[in-house]
Amino acid sequence: MSKRTSLGIGLAGFGTVGSGVWNTLARNGPLITSRTGGGISLHVARILVRDPGKTRATCGEVPATLFTTDWRSLVDDPAVEIVVELIGGTTDAFDIVAAALRAKKPVVTGNKALLAERGVELFALSRECGTPIHFEAAVAGGIPIIRTVQDSFIGNRIRSFSGIINGTSNFILGRMTEAALSFEDALAEAQQLGYAEADPSLDVNGWDAAHKAIVLATLAYGFPIDPNAIHVSGIQQVKPADISFAKNLGYALKLLAVVREHADQAVEIRIQPSFIPKAHILASVNGVFNAVAVHGDTAGESLFYGRGAGQDPTASSVVADLVEAARALRHQGDHRGFLPYADSGRLVPVGDTSTAYYVRFDVTDRPGVIAEIARILADHRIGISGTHSPVNPSNPDADFVDMIFLLHTCPFGKLQAALDEIEKLDCINSTPVVFRIESLT
Ligand code: NAP
Ligand code: HSE
Repeated sequence: MSKRTSLGIGLAGFGTVGSGVWNTLARNGPLITSRTGGGISLHVARILVRDPGKTRATCGEVPATLFTTDWRSLVDDPAVEIVVELIGGTTDAFDIVAAALRAKKPVVTGNKALLAERGVELFALSRECGTPIHFEAAVAGGIPIIRTVQDSFIGNRIRSFSGIINGTSNFILGRMTEAALSFEDALAEAQQLGYAEADPSLDVNGWDAAHKAIVLATLAYGFPIDPNAIHVSGIQQVKPADISFAKNLGYALKLLAVVREHADQAVEIRIQPSFIPKAHILASVNGVFNAVAVHGDTAGESLFYGRGAGQDPTASSVVADLVEAARALRHQGDHRGFLPYADSGRLVPVGDTSTAYYVRFDVTDRPGVIAEIARILADHRIGISGTHSPVNPSNPDADFVDMIFLLHTCPFGKLQAALDEIEKLDCINSTPVVFRIESLT
């Protein structure tokens, strides 16, 4: 049996996830050591925070001497062999990761914003320095989806990912439906539970899911993806009426991420609130749970389901990466940190992507409104599968009403052109709200 060896970690960030990593190591340290094969014991050698005086609920006491507010002293500390970046954001986090790579210290991060926005620079540096970046926690919290795509699906051409990959927005949609909470109250609960980003607008505007979709697409297709070239819309416009209307029609309303390779190998990436058939398995993914359906040309479709955010599930992924990085360091093994393998690829413009749609118009209620909207849709050769105007029970004679149109499949660009025209009608009071209706076949 090999000798026990201790390995020091620099924990940059000791918030929800960072303290979860501490707790996991405190709770399961001996178990982890016994499973590493080489008897590697992981210990936290340094912790970076903004406010060392903050009271922190942790498993066991954290020696005050471990804390620093100077990230350089963490990265440069000879006792730190692996740097775990869990501060979030794309500025200081970038500097920490870059400095660690230059110091040949493997990096573990859960920071999808950093990877999606600045991953091209960091992965180039990772390759140049021969030092890996591990990022299992960056997508879908506790679900081991990165490893699955990198290892288990290595023999597959990935046809698509589709999934629910933001726990906070899924939690909010659920709480708005089942407990009739307001959007604001549901978000406050998600923040209190440690699900939301430090800047929660990323959760509700779709960008957190977009960052994760970019990370998945980069793994699957290997080329750098410009975040400005993908289509992202979030759940800010969802009203309880949309959720109940979806339900009545046999759908669930979810923030869906779609990454799909077309026949010409161009890649479609979009994040949008979408109507999903109630019978589809993704429709029953509720609360903070995430699910990612992966379609490989060889494996066919597989579904990965689990907690997508929160302290312990995310710490579980970080610790798995830590062990992998530690094994590679101690045993000079191959690492599975990511290296891009293609220089270029093509994205599908969102205007060329097609689904059916749910469109909500805020209209002035007068005779002829439906006909005016329908005429413009017909001019653009967009078929209508249904219309509905839910009566507001508290004000049945209201002048302004929601008018819902269900539309047949057409390219998003064509719909957008029709909606631009419809929005100019006198009877339309605000920009129409569009959700996708996905068949997910
Ligand atoms: P958090 O609770 O806000 O914790 C951030 C930690 O970093 C805090 O300890 C904070 O110090 C420290 N910090 C922030 N900026 C700093 C700076 N400039 N210099 C020094 N220290 C700084 O965040 P979190 O929820 O743990 O998330 C951390 C990362 O994990 C983010 O990239 C997030 O996207 C990702 N992630 C989070 C989850 C989740 O469920 N929460 C899941 C997956 C991935 P103080 O404690 O002194 O304020
Ligand atoms: N804020 C993120 C979410 C954390 O709610 O999914 C997990 O990445």
